[in-house]
Amino acid sequence: MGWPVGHSRSPKVHGYWIERYRLSGAYVLLPVRPERLADALKGLSALGFAGCNATIPHKEAVLRLLDRVDPMAKRIGAVNTIAVGEDGTLTGYNTDAFGFVESLRETQPTWRADAGPAVVLGAGGGARAVVASLAEQGAREIRLLNRTPARAQALAAELGAPVTAVAWEKRHDALADAALLVNATSQGMQGQPPLELSLDRLPASALVCDIVYVPLETPLLAAARRRGNPTVNGLGMLLHQARAAFEKWFGVMPEVTPELRRMIEATI
Ligand SMILES: NC(=O)c1ccc[n+]([C@@H]2O[C@H](COP(=O)([O-])OP(=O)(O)OC[C@H]3O[C@@H](n4cnc5c(N)ncnc54)[C@H](OP(=O)(O)O)[C@@H]3O)[C@@H](O)[C@H]2O)c1
Repeated sequence: MGWPVGHSRSPKVHGYWIERYRLSGAYVLLPVRPERLADALKGLSALGFAGCNATIPHKEAVLRLLDRVDPMAKRIGAVNTIAVGEDGTLTGYNTDAFGFVESLRETQPTWRADAGPAVVLGAGGGARAVVASLAEQGAREIRLLNRTPARAQALAAELGAPVTAVAWEKRHDALADAALLVNATSQGMQGQPPLELSLDRLPASALVCDIVYVPLETPLLAAARRRGNPTVNGLGMLLHQARAAFEKWFGVMPEVTPELRRMIEATI
């Protein structure tokens, strides 16, 4: 459910798994106007849906329309996956946090959140999932920087230690001794200017992740690759968050196969 939803790649991803695991079902796009969201959710059970995804602009609004909300979704402040129970009740989850961590582990199986300081740029929906997942995974220091400082400060206050809000102007220096750098701003996305960030102080061993996935290699990732840093693009987070949603609906944790990745890459 979203408004609009035409741009979504999710039907391709879930359709691939429905076929691969020989399930009887379909993933369909449901354009739902914000003022009809409550009615649309009430109809899910009667229409035989196992659940749905919620996307822009419904991710926050659904929180107060569900019977139960998973603690991680509460912490993130947004729901992207809804499961319909046998009794018709609705439970909300946020699978972006799982998707983010899995995408890092796919690149570096031995990745650990407590390997060293993490620097996260951004304080929007994506950043909230990234920061909450890093905290849950045991990160000891998360430096959070956002263009609008009040949003970084509010998120740091909400999530508490280990998150510290750092001024946006200090972003170049904040990279010193970092083990992980994550861009969760919209900068570097197609149609947006590149993120303005000097990587000079970033250790060459630091993992650099961009949650933006259009383009697959953002200017930040290209710069990181050129100086030898390992990199992770945003497609992994997108694909892996879908796995956790699929598992909630169908009870099968699907795989991100090379074929699926190629199929989705071809749409970018
Ligand atoms: N890979 C995935 O699965 C995944 C999941 C979620 C999001 N994403 C991607 O992540 C990006 C952000 O999404 P979102 O949902 O978090 O968006 P959002 O809630 O609108 O947040 C946008 C963020 O970008 C910052 N920003 C915007 N313009 C900026 C500028 N000129 N300079 C510096 N910072 C700027 C905003 O800072 P202010 O607070 O100052 O406005 C805010 O922190 C998008 O490209 C989205 O596609 C990917």
